[in-house]
Amino acid sequence: MAAEDIDDLFEHELEDIYFAEHELTEAYDRMAETSSDEEVAAFFESHVEETGDHIERLVEVFELTGEAPQTEECEGIEGLLAEWEEFAEENDAGSVHDYYNLVTAIKTERYEQTAYESLVALAHERGDSEAEDLLRENLDEDEETLDELAEMAENYDYGSL
Ligand SMILES: [Fe+2]
Ligand SMILES: [Fe+2]
Repeated sequence: MAAEDIDDLFEHELEDIYFAEHELTEAYDRMAETSSDEEVAAFFESHVEETGDHIERLVEVFELTGEAPQTEECEGIEGLLAEWEEFAEENDAGSVHDYYNLVTAIKTERYEQTAYESLVALAHERGDSEAEDLLRENLDEDEETLDELAEMAENYDYGSL
């Protein structure tokens, strides 16, 4: 569908992140399974749950726009996750894999951060403050996640690599 105005663009971006959040739920589950470090595995498990909350908020935003929730294939996230899949197939669990899982999550969360920043701005411009609040909650949580990931990466036992 051609996006001709701000409403179309908003919908396009909403469907894109809706797709991405679903892909991430599955991927983070797999990343939890392939993480040998307890702290790293626990991070992925808890973020799978939080991602479920993000999907619920997105459904609410769809309701506010009067559109049924639907997905638009998000090749950006698919590409990042395809890279991860390839790595996971070729490598055994261990410190190197754990670190790669962390770095992949930083990439995907930054993608989400950018998507939500723009959605918040578009919702604001459309005068839809309820949608704006819901999207900002997702943005805030993913930014907290990024802080957590940055700390884990900073304190990583690089000597174990
Ligand atoms: Fe999210
Ligand atoms: Fe996230």
